[in-house]
Amino acid sequence: MRILVTGTAGFIGFHLARRLLAEGHEVVGIDNFNDYYPVKLKEDRHRLLEALPGYRGERLDLTEGERLAALVRDWRPAAVCNLAAQAGVRYSLTNPHVYQKANLEGFLNILEACRHADPQPRLVYASSSSVYGGNTKLPFSESDRVDTPISLYAATKKANELMAHSYSHLFGMQTIGLRFFTVYGPWGRPDMAMWIFTDAMLKGKPIKVFNHGQMSRDFTYVDDIVQGLCGALFAPGLDNYEIFNLGNHRSENLLDMIGLLGRTLGVEPKMEFLPMQDGDVPATYADVAKAQAKLGFSPTTPIAAGIPAFVEWYREYHGI
Ligand SMILES: NC(=O)c1ccc[n+]([C@@H]2O[C@H](COP(=O)([O-])OP(=O)(O)OC[C@H]3O[C@@H](n4cnc5c(N)ncnc54)[C@H](O)[C@@H]3O)[C@@H](O)[C@H]2O)c1
Repeated sequence: MRILVTGTAGFIGFHLARRLLAEGHEVVGIDNFNDYYPVKLKEDRHRLLEALPGYRGERLDLTEGERLAALVRDWRPAAVCNLAAQAGVRYSLTNPHVYQKANLEGFLNILEACRHADPQPRLVYASSSSVYGGNTKLPFSESDRVDTPISLYAATKKANELMAHSYSHLFGMQTIGLRFFTVYGPWGRPDMAMWIFTDAMLKGKPIKVFNHGQMSRDFTYVDDIVQGLCGALFAPGLDNYEIFNLGNHRSENLLDMIGLLGRTLGVEPKMEFLPMQDGDVPATYADVAKAQAKLGFSPTTPIAAGIPAFVEWYREYHGI
């Protein structure tokens, strides 16, 4: 099948594109290669994709609505997977307009491109566990109310779900939103805690531990996320409008994660305990029963296996 994937120079998009190509699909990948984190990492990922048969990369910004619409109209993909976005909770406190451009205007352009294509592709898009905001009922379930985001990033992801709902309702488009829970693994993101901690520990520097370590996260290995994404792209019998949690269904204490990372690196972590950061939530934990039932989602990677895989890649990539 022909699948259009946005954000293919990014962490999750790169892994998804590789999997789709390995399964014999044709992939057009879109990315604007912005410098939110080192562009070299994006170029290195993209170079690997470009070497694979069936792949074509396009340097395109989601705000270029006409180019995007022409691509979807002319190439006629069976599905569009929108992973391009401005990610990160903390950055949204200081750079709100980037989120408006990429996540709101860009997402509207994706919806419009799919709406006017013939046939209309299935649209799968990245939402986020951050839409659960300050909810305290764990695990987080798709049936919980999510009306109280506590960062602009979360608000844009919730807005994407609402925008998708209106397009499914008005134009019969099939839209599948996926709430990812803290994704990690090889080729990961340098702005995320696991990468930042690894970098600091290898340099012998202290790591900043927020909320005095009273944090837990549902860490989800990227291969498991890709398995869920493939379910969302290909599963039969889905409704026109769907939202799924994709998490590991285990909430790990942050200090346990740091301990395991330190043992894997052979380093005793030095920790600087700090208060909670604005926009952050103390705990995430995914109820994945719906994704299991409808997407065949079955995460299989505990952090005891995923962290060593990340560290092995990290050392090899940096030659350390
Ligand atoms: N990694 C996680 O833990 C996580 C958790 C929840 C949700 N998500 C969401 O999943 C998606 C993928 O995340 P990721 O971790 O791979 O992030 P990433 O930043 O590595 O990838 C996103 C890619 O999109 C590209 N991009 C950004 N704005 C663009 C624009 N306007 N036009 C074209 N390309 C643009 C970036 O250059 C980047 O390569 C994002 O939507 C993110 O919000 C990720």
